[in-house]
Amino acid sequence: MIQLENVTFAYDERPILKNVSFSIDETESVVIMGPSGSGKSTILRLIMGLECPQEGKILVDDANICVMNERQKQEVRKRIAMVFQEGALFDSLTVGENVGFYQIEHTRMSRSEIEQNVRQMLGFVGLRADEIIDVLPDQLSGGMRRRVAIGRALLSTNPRVMLYDEPTTGLDPEATEMVLELINKATVERNISTVVVTHQIPDAIALANRFIVIHGGEMVFDGDLDALRVCDEPRVRDFLQPFRESIGKVNQRQFV
Ligand SMILES: Nc1ncnc2c1ncn2[C@@H]1O[C@H](COP(=O)(O)OP(=O)(O)O)[C@@H](O)[C@H]1O
Ligand SMILES: [Mg+2]
Repeated sequence: MIQLENVTFAYDERPILKNVSFSIDETESVVIMGPSGSGKSTILRLIMGLECPQEGKILVDDANICVMNERQKQEVRKRIAMVFQEGALFDSLTVGENVGFYQIEHTRMSRSEIEQNVRQMLGFVGLRADEIIDVLPDQLSGGMRRRVAIGRALLSTNPRVMLYDEPTTGLDPEATEMVLELINKATVERNISTVVVTHQIPDAIALANRFIVIHGGEMVFDGDLDALRVCDEPRVRDFLQPFRESIGKVNQRQFV
């Protein structure tokens, strides 16, 4: 459903991604990991059609997003929702207005219908609607803001694919655990395909059964946890070295 074919991308003259190819099937979950600055967020921006590669193609449901006009891209973005790093909530809107944003702006649903959907979604992401629906985002903890952002993305267009950029970065262990559980719950219960970008390796392991490692703009690994554990490509080993122990210990959850 998402395919990158020999994608090469540069900002101005600065090469960022080199000849990256992979594909993600319907209902497959994948973690893209790699050091900071390796080009992970850029990959998500390319999949959303926010940037276009200089070489190669990006296909979403077999259509090349790189040659689409803005209206066609908007249609693709209904199928793929992105949770940006730090959540990117609208600071001046309440939690309820954030979560219901798409339905308020782009549908003719009544206010009460939207509020009902928002309350249901807040419940889904594990928050008490009565307590926070009228609160501004800066009144919430970091973990709660992430959950609101995930709820907003899920409620927007009922996407089939969720892209998460560093969903646990900056959270304490307890909030991290709740966000990881929520991502898994969204994947399984809503039967969607999940792509997570992260440099938090232990968290990454808990989120998928397929891993892609990006290093210096190149894809240096694509495979499952067992293959990752024994991979002897030097750039993969260097990157994973500090986390060897946690990779050995961690139990994978149950995935689709
Ligand atoms: N808008 C931009 N203009 C120029 N360079 C950028 C821009 N966005 C990111 N970069 C650079 O591209 C590289 C890859 O960035 P990014 O994809 O954000 O990496 P990651 O998400 O893996 O940390 C970094 O060196 C970053 O500085
Ligand atoms: Mg990034």
